[in-house]
Amino acid sequence: MNSKFRPINVLTDFSENPFTFFARAPILLAGDHEQYNAMTIGWGSLGTLWGMERPTATVYVAPARHTFEFIENAKFFVIMTFASSMVADFMGTYSGRDIDKAKTLGLTVDYTLHGCPYFVEATTVMECEIMYSAPLDSAGFRNQVPKRLYENFPAGIHSVFVGEVVAMWERK
Ligand SMILES: Cc1cc2nc3c(=O)[nH]c(=O)nc-3n(C[C@H](O)[C@H](O)[C@H](O)COP(=O)(O)O)c2cc1C
Repeated sequence: MNSKFRPINVLTDFSENPFTFFARAPILLAGDHEQYNAMTIGWGSLGTLWGMERPTATVYVAPARHTFEFIENAKFFVIMTFASSMVADFMGTYSGRDIDKAKTLGLTVDYTLHGCPYFVEATTVMECEIMYSAPLDSAGFRNQVPKRLYENFPAGIHSVFVGEVVAMWERK
């Protein structure tokens, strides 16, 4: 990990409101040393699963996203926050299919101990090991909220990705 960052224990030192964390529109990145893609992620949750002391980050990615192809095949993903909302605006508007978003924004790639890429300009980096993924099943839509949303959602029904938070760093 880059020396500009210090590790945080999410179980004792994470002070953000988990209900509003994803409203900050962080950046989700999946990939490896060869290739990766990143996009803005607004839907997700922080909590626990399969162990009281196993912190998890859950994200929802639509199949039309270029990032989907990467996270489907990845072992890890990272969720990053940035000081400037410009990164989220750009990463959430353009697709990695069309342009190199990181290059356009002038972001620098480095790698976690697990070999997952992240951007050195981030203010926090949360690294997650994917434990579970599956498409949301429309048979499970229990009220009008998901039914109405997907009536007109060209990017397709999201898949859920549950990651165990294996490390987190913040900028020194
Ligand atoms: C604020 C914001 C939040 C977003 N949240 C999500 C999300 O939770 N899940 C998702 O699939 N797409 C989400 N998107 C859309 C993707 O970020 C967007 O389609 C992006 O261009 C996909 O890039 P890619 O094709 O390079 O993966 C969001 C976009 C914005 C602007």
